[in-house]
Amino acid sequence: MRVGTKSVIFGVHSILVHPFFVACAWSSLYGFPWDPRLWVAFFVHDLGYLTRPNMEGPEGQKHVVLGGRIMGCLFSPEWQDFTLCHSRHWAESVGKRYSKLCLADKLAFVLTPAWLYIPMARLSGELREYMRVSSERQVGGRVSSFELSLLKSRYPQVWLEGLKLYTRRWLEQHRNDSRNCWTEACPQHLQGQILETRS
Ligand SMILES: [Fe+2]
Ligand SMILES: [Fe+2]
Repeated sequence: MRVGTKSVIFGVHSILVHPFFVACAWSSLYGFPWDPRLWVAFFVHDLGYLTRPNMEGPEGQKHVVLGGRIMGCLFSPEWQDFTLCHSRHWAESVGKRYSKLCLADKLAFVLTPAWLYIPMARLSGELREYMRVSSERQVGGRVSSFELSLLKSRYPQVWLEGLKLYTRRWLEQHRNDSRNCWTEACPQHLQGQILETRS
């Protein structure tokens, strides 16, 4: 079974776990998600990891496409973009602003406790890839020296704390940026950092 499939079934993108943390995060950021279309997005936005041979490589980065198509077919092109642009990398590649789902997704990562995240990431085989990639992407002063020291650790708990610190800081800086017009064009320099935290 490929790592992407394992991730969606019992890894950090588990369909049984991750959508509920995204819902909690959305509640914290924007209030309770009463719109049922949001709940569909919470459940489908990472389904595209199914069958992917990697999480951070070119195949993994296209994981947004399936969920976007589902939302586009079920609802509207705006909902498709809302789902596609939950990835900062994807949003930047198409010249759009990351969506509110992106912020909720990042906060969901922060909210997921280490005692749950690390065993799931280890069981699915994601952990090694995440630790390798996140420490390789520390360029351009995006990460503080303290965060970097944690990210370079070979201990998963320490590495995870570093990534959560960085993500919390990014969220504080950007939580007011994501306006309702999630499809508006956004210059690349406004997109912020591109250190993805897969969630
Ligand atoms: Fe995702
Ligand atoms: Fe997610």
